[in-house]
Amino acid sequence: MYRITCVVGTRPEAIKMAPLILTLKKDKRFAVTVLATGQHTEMLHQALSHFGIAADVDLNIMRDRQTLDHITSAVLTGVGGFLDESPQDMLLVHGDTSTTLAAALAGFYRHIPVGHVEAGLRSHDMSLPFPEEANRVLTDQLATLFFAPTRGDAENLKREGLSRTGKKLSHTSRIHVTGNTVIDALFWTLKNLKNRPEPEALQDIPEDAPLILMTAHRRESWGEPLHRICGAVADLLRERPEIHILIPLHKNPTVREAIRRDLGAFAEGTPPQVIFTEPLNYPDFVSVMDRSLFILSDSGGIQEEASALKKPVLILRTLSERPDAVTQGTGVLVGTDPERILSEARRLLDNAAYRQSFASRESAPFGDGTASVKIRDIIAQYLEAGA
Ligand code: UD1
Ligand code: UDP
Repeated sequence: MYRITCVVGTRPEAIKMAPLILTLKKDKRFAVTVLATGQHTEMLHQALSHFGIAADVDLNIMRDRQTLDHITSAVLTGVGGFLDESPQDMLLVHGDTSTTLAAALAGFYRHIPVGHVEAGLRSHDMSLPFPEEANRVLTDQLATLFFAPTRGDAENLKREGLSRTGKKLSHTSRIHVTGNTVIDALFWTLKNLKNRPEPEALQDIPEDAPLILMTAHRRESWGEPLHRICGAVADLLRERPEIHILIPLHKNPTVREAIRRDLGAFAEGTPPQVIFTEPLNYPDFVSVMDRSLFILSDSGGIQEEASALKKPVLILRTLSERPDAVTQGTGVLVGTDPERILSEARRLLDNAAYRQSFASRESAPFGDGTASVKIRDIIAQYLEAGA
C-alpha cells in the first residue's frame, strides 16, 4: 500500500481536501493519514466533522492572534517530525495557507514527492492576497505534481517553467487540470441537504425578506479597507431598512472586533437587520448561500461555490487569482471602494433581470464534481510507475 499523508490546517483546506481524503480512503491501494496542523482549531474540526473525517494526527499549533512566523515554523517542525517517524510515499497539501507552504517544505526537505491540490492560482501581485500569493508561488516551486483547477491555472505553472521534467516524469505528467475539489464538496453536501431544517441563524428573519450573506477576513483588508467595506454596508442598511445581512463571523479576533464595532448597532433591532453568528457548519453555510439574493465576500472558496450555485458574489478585492469567477462565473470585482460596493449592491437589489442573468449562466469554470477521482487516478499512476 502507498502511504499518503493529507495535510490540512484551516477551514478551507478541510472542506476542499475532504472529498479527496474520502476518495483515497475508499481505495485499497492507499494507506491514508490525515494530518491536521491545527492552524485553525474549531473551524478546522467543524469542517472535517461534516464529512465524517477525524484527524489521525493533530499538531495543535494554534495560538491566539498568531503570527505568520509562528505558524510557519511550528508547522515545519511538526510536519517534519511526523515525516521522520512515519516516512510517506507522497504528501498532499492544499491551496495557499502558511500550513500549505511549511508542510510542502517539510516534505521537500525529505525528498518526499509533494502533490499540490489547487495549484497554479496567481494574482501576479505578491501583496494580494497576502501572504497567500507568496505561499502558493513558493509551494509550487517545491511540489512534484500539480493539480490545477482550471486551464488558466495550468498555464500559469507552465509559464513559470514548472512543466520541466525530472528524470522520472515525462514532459506532460507534472501538471494536470482536474477541476476544483470544492465543487466535489459542494455537490456532496447539496445531495445531503434535502430534509435538513432551516439554519437556526435564519429563524428570526421573515421567509420572504431580502437576505444578503457577508464574510470578510483577508489580512490585507485589516484596518482601513475593512472599515470602508463596513461603511458601505452600513450605508446600504440605512438606505434599505427591509434588507437583512447574515454575517458568520470568522474566529479571527482582529476581524470580529472590527466588524462588530462598525456594524454592531444594526444587530439590535427585532428582527435585527444584521445577524451575527459563529462560523456556520458547511451545510448551513451552503444553504444560506443558496437562500441569499447575493453574497458579499473576500473569500477564495466562496467565489468558486457561488459560481457553481449561480449566485452573484460581490468580491471585496481589487483583483482575483480566480479570474474565471469573474469572466465565466458569477463574481463581480468591487474591491473595497464604498461607492462601487454600494452601486453594485443597489443594482442587484433593484434589478431582478440583472440578478436573473447570473442564475442562467451555463458555464462551470471550476469543474463538475469529479476532481477528487481525477486526482486519485493521477496519484496512482505516478506511484505505480515507481517514480
Ligand atoms: C487563515 C489563512 C488564510 C485563509 C484563512 C481561511 C494563513 C496565513 N492565513 O487566515 O490564507 O484564507 O485561514 O479562513 O495561512 N482562530 C480561532 N479559532 C479558529 C481559527 C482561528 O480562534 O478556529 C483565531 C486565532 O486567534 C488565530 C487567528 O484566528 O490566531 C488567526 O488565524 P490564522 O490561521 O493565523 O489566520 P486566518 O485569518 O484565519
Ligand atoms: N464557510 C463555512 N462556514 C462559514 C463561512 C464559510 O463553512 O461560516 C466555508 C465556505 O463555504 C468555503 C470556505 O468556508 O468553502 C471558505 O473559507 P474562508 O473564507 O475562511 O477561506 P478562503 O476560501 O478565503 O481561503
